[in-house]
Amino acid sequence: MQRVSISNKTKRFACTTEHYNDLYSRYLQNPAKLLEMAGYQPGQRLLDLCGGTGAISLAALALGGDPSQVTLIDLKPRCQDKKIRQLAGSALSTLKQINNEGEMFDVAICRQAFAYLHVEGKSGEELAQSIANLIQPGGFFIFNSFIRPRFHFKSYQFKGRRFIELAGYLRRRIFRLQIGLGVGYDFSISKWHREERIFEIFNPYFNIETRWSENAVYWICTRR
Ligand SMILES: C[S@@+](CC[C@H](N)C(=O)[O-])C[C@H]1O[C@@H](n2cnc3c(N)ncnc32)[C@H](O)[C@@H]1O
Repeated sequence: MQRVSISNKTKRFACTTEHYNDLYSRYLQNPAKLLEMAGYQPGQRLLDLCGGTGAISLAALALGGDPSQVTLIDLKPRCQDKKIRQLAGSALSTLKQINNEGEMFDVAICRQAFAYLHVEGKSGEELAQSIANLIQPGGFFIFNSFIRPRFHFKSYQFKGRRFIELAGYLRRRIFRLQIGLGVGYDFSISKWHREERIFEIFNPYFNIETRWSENAVYWICTRR
């Protein structure tokens, strides 16, 4: 698989900080929840889309999953388990390469990252189609997205450390600065996607169920 170069600008705005796991540890809890929603079984072929440090992939292995059946795609893959296949590149171009090779998966999950992908315009339709192409009938594509965010400032303690989080929302963009004292900082810009648009692009291929929680919407898409 071809490796795709990443510009520094993209790296900076896509949660690829070396401190990612520490800064996001509060969010990184319970990744198994999405695997559970997909009825994931060890031995199934799993795609961890925008998998980053591999929270989903590692949760699958903890459930008894076979690393040779797990593929992680990210602009900058950085999962510690090197038995997992990790493909570096943008989601859409890497998915298209997988489509060209005709590879199929039982479950694809995009956790805390769908907001970085484009869904407006032609690339949105291409994204949905390229995901649908690699999920076999009855298989799942599951992702979570933001409930429309407002400006907020939080200061909290997590595992004995002080964290500060500042988020704002302007023109469908979410700006988030996280600082962990003694840990580092991360600044990210992501998008708030319209629900109608998500339905519009995935509806041709999937039955879609949404589950709302306090901070996120879970989209459970079953391939027809
Ligand atoms: C908040 S992290 C989530 C990582 C992981 N899914 C998790 O649950 O910990 C967002 C990830 O999306 C990746 N990302 C952002 N834009 C991307 C794109 N266009 N293609 C592939 N990966 C992307 C970033 O590199 C980052 O690792």
